[in-house]
Amino acid sequence: MRVLSGIQPTGRFHWGNYFGAIRQYIDLQDDHDGYYFIANLHALTTIRDAELLQQLTHDAALDLLALGLDPDKATLFIQSDIPEVSQLTWILMTCTSMGLLERCVAYKEKKEKGIAADAGLFTYPVLMSADILAYDSQWVPVGQDQVQHIEVCRDLANSFNHHFKSTFVLPEARIVGSAAKVPGTDGEKMSKSYDNTIGLFEELKPQRKKIMRIQTDSRPMEDPKEPEGDHLFQLYQLMATAEEIEEMASLYRQGGFGYGHVKKALADVAERYFAPARERRQELENHPDTVRDILKAGAERARTVAAEVLARAEEACGLTAPKPH
Ligand code: ADP
Ligand code: TRP
Repeated sequence: MRVLSGIQPTGRFHWGNYFGAIRQYIDLQDDHDGYYFIANLHALTTIRDAELLQQLTHDAALDLLALGLDPDKATLFIQSDIPEVSQLTWILMTCTSMGLLERCVAYKEKKEKGIAADAGLFTYPVLMSADILAYDSQWVPVGQDQVQHIEVCRDLANSFNHHFKSTFVLPEARIVGSAAKVPGTDGEKMSKSYDNTIGLFEELKPQRKKIMRIQTDSRPMEDPKEPEGDHLFQLYQLMATAEEIEEMASLYRQGGFGYGHVKKALADVAERYFAPARERRQELENHPDTVRDILKAGAERARTVAAEVLARAEEACGLTAPKPH
C-alpha cells in the first residue's frame, strides 16, 4: 500500500504536530510503502524570505529523521526536487473548475478575513492533488483540516480519468489525530498561529520555563480535581508511562498538590521522551552530508515514480504520442 503525506516547513515543529500528525506518519512506515515530503512549494505561499525557507526546510528534514523517519523504510524528499509535480499541476489545472477551488475552506477563510490571496493560495489544492497523484498514492494520512483537499484531488483525478482514459489512482484520506487535539500553553489547541506552542527541539531550559508558565485554573491546591479534561494532564498522558499516568490521576483525585508539581513532572517526562530524538538530531547536525544524501536518494526514487505517472498523463491527454505496444 503506497502511503503519502506532506508537511509544510512554515515553522519549527511543535508537540501538536508530532502527536497529531508526524508520529502517525512515521508509524506507518513499518507496514507500508511510505512517501513523505517537505512541502516547500506550498510554503512559498506564506514564507517570502529565502534564507528562512531554506533553514526551515533543512530543519524539517532533520526533525523528521531525528523523530524516527527511517530512510531505509520510507522515502523522504523535498517537494521542489520533483519538477514532474509542477508539470502535472498544470495538466490538472485544466481539469479544475473555479467553483471547486472557490469552495475550499482555506482560501475562503482568508478571503473572508480580507487577507489578500494570490493565485498560489487559490490553486494550492491543485498542487496538493499533483503531489498525491504523481506517486499513485493510495492512502493519504492528514489532519481533519486537509480532508477537503483530498476530496478535491479525487474530483480532479476522476474528471481527468473520465475526459481521457483511466490514468490516476484514486487516493483515500486517512484521518490522523482526530482524537487528540494537543493543547497549547494557554489550554487552547496548540498552533503556531496562536503563539502557544512548545517546540519539539527547543533548548531544554527555556522549554522547562515555558512548561512552568502553562496557564491553569486558580482552584485552591487542596481541592480534589478530575484529571480528565485538564490540559496539563492531557499533555502528561502523551509522554508518561501507564503507571505514571495512573499515579498522577490518583494525585489529582486526592487533591492537596499544586499545579507546579504537575508541570515539573510534565517537563521531566517530556525531556525523557524526546531525549533519543534530541540525540539523533545532534548527530545529524554534525553530519550534513548524510542528510543531503538521504534527501538526494529520496528525490531520485520519487522522481522515477513521478516521471512514469506524468508520462502516462501526457500520453492520455495528447501531449505526447501514444507509445507503440
Ligand atoms: P499549525 O496549526 O501550528 O500551523 P499545521 O497546520 O502546520 O500546524 O499542522 C501540521 C499538521 O499537524 C497537521 O496535520 C495538523 O493536523 C497537525 N496538528 C497541528 N497542531 C495540532 C494540535 N494541536 N493537535 C493535533 N494535531 C495538530
Ligand atoms: N497541505 C498540507 C498541509 O498543510 C501539506 C501537503 C501538501 C500535503 N501536499 C500534500 C499533505 C499532499 C498530504 C498530501 O498540511
